[in-house]
Amino acid sequence: MKDKKITIAIDGYSSCGKSTLAKDVAKELGYVFIDSGAMYRAVTYFALQNGIINADSIDVQKLISLLPSINLHFEVNSTTLLPEIYLNNKNVETEIRKPEIAARVSRIAEIKEVRIKLVDEQQKMGQGGGIVMDGRDIGSVVFPNAELKLFVTASIEVRTQRRFDELIQKGITTTRQEVQENLTWRDLIDTTRGESPLIQTEDAIILDNTALTKEEQLAHVLALVNQLISSK
Ligand code: CDP
Repeated sequence: MKDKKITIAIDGYSSCGKSTLAKDVAKELGYVFIDSGAMYRAVTYFALQNGIINADSIDVQKLISLLPSINLHFEVNSTTLLPEIYLNNKNVETEIRKPEIAARVSRIAEIKEVRIKLVDEQQKMGQGGGIVMDGRDIGSVVFPNAELKLFVTASIEVRTQRRFDELIQKGITTTRQEVQENLTWRDLIDTTRGESPLIQTEDAIILDNTALTKEEQLAHVLALVNQLISSK
């Protein structure tokens, strides 16, 4: 069954390298990579642009009523060969990574109707298998039958440093303290919310990448995939 295209679900805490891992695994296997967090970030960007988030309150009813007018899709960037997210046909990949989105996204991701819409779209993208998707509820809700489920974790210090470096590299001004506070805040909301919280499912394999390089974590996961495919 070497040619069978499986579904790989990668969940874990904020900024633990899930997307990096998912991208690398998908590239190596010739699978589609979907960053489900980008979709929640894009809805948050839409909410900010449309006066749905004011100061720190969210007009939930207005957002729900406007959900049908939110169209999301991914397109592969021809230079980087990585998928980028489009909101109503506008590329918002850069905007959604900014701290003002990170500061609000977990509140938007708590809204049941938002989750129903995005989970439905994610399930459609994964219908044929051959997909690597990362997020918080991929192994528990989006693809409960995924052949491989990973739960990624790393120390808060390492996660903070990685995200800090990433933002600085993109020219975004921030501090380590601001980044760490945001990660801790999102982890708390993401793990305690009523709607599909981040959990480690029983069948997920834990991957603590605190002391692993990008290459080491990739090799580890490819070995798991090979084991799985050859045992089928
Ligand atoms: O990249 P990072 O790990 O910091 O976060 P992300 O994957 O871009 O996700 C941003 C936020 O979206 C998370 O903190 C969650 O609140 C939400 N999210 C979610 O609820 N469910 C998902 N499947 C993916 C993201």
